[in-house]
Amino acid sequence: MDKKDHYTAAEREIKIRLEKGGDLTADLGNTAAVLKKRFSFFWIGFYFFQHNNLVLGPFQGTPACVFLEKGKGVCWACVKKKKTIIVPDVHAFTDHIACDPASRSEIAVPVFDRKGSLRAVLDVDSEHLRAFDEDDRIGLESIAGLLAGCWND
Ligand code: SME
Repeated sequence: MDKKDHYTAAEREIKIRLEKGGDLTADLGNTAAVLKKRFSFFWIGFYFFQHNNLVLGPFQGTPACVFLEKGKGVCWACVKKKKTIIVPDVHAFTDHIACDPASRSEIAVPVFDRKGSLRAVLDVDSEHLRAFDEDDRIGLESIAGLLAGCWND
């Protein structure tokens, strides 16, 4: 199986779990768990975008920063641009927030609700340089799209 096939399989599993789900924390937790298991990512999780803060949500991996300093780092860049950010080398990214020094590259994907409001950032870290490419962007954006229905307020 290549990476695209793994994303297709992960998407299928997440879709089924979401159909049986219905609780935001549990659904995002299961999504992170499915992706962590399939890809052995170093860290994968969500930062909720709420009250103009980025607050740690469900995740898999080492302990992480609870609040991300406003305007700094990869996740805030994702919020500002409302686009996926791929960082091949986190040490070359100005203001990168290092929750764990082992992280070397990163991808941050915006998660929108059904109305198109930004609700979270799906953040993935690798201990390897240049770990993420277009296949990851497409795969993770597609999975982020499945999560739109998790917010009903
Ligand atoms: N590196 C991120 C912070 C979150 S951790 O990677 C889990 C950033 O620069 O926004």
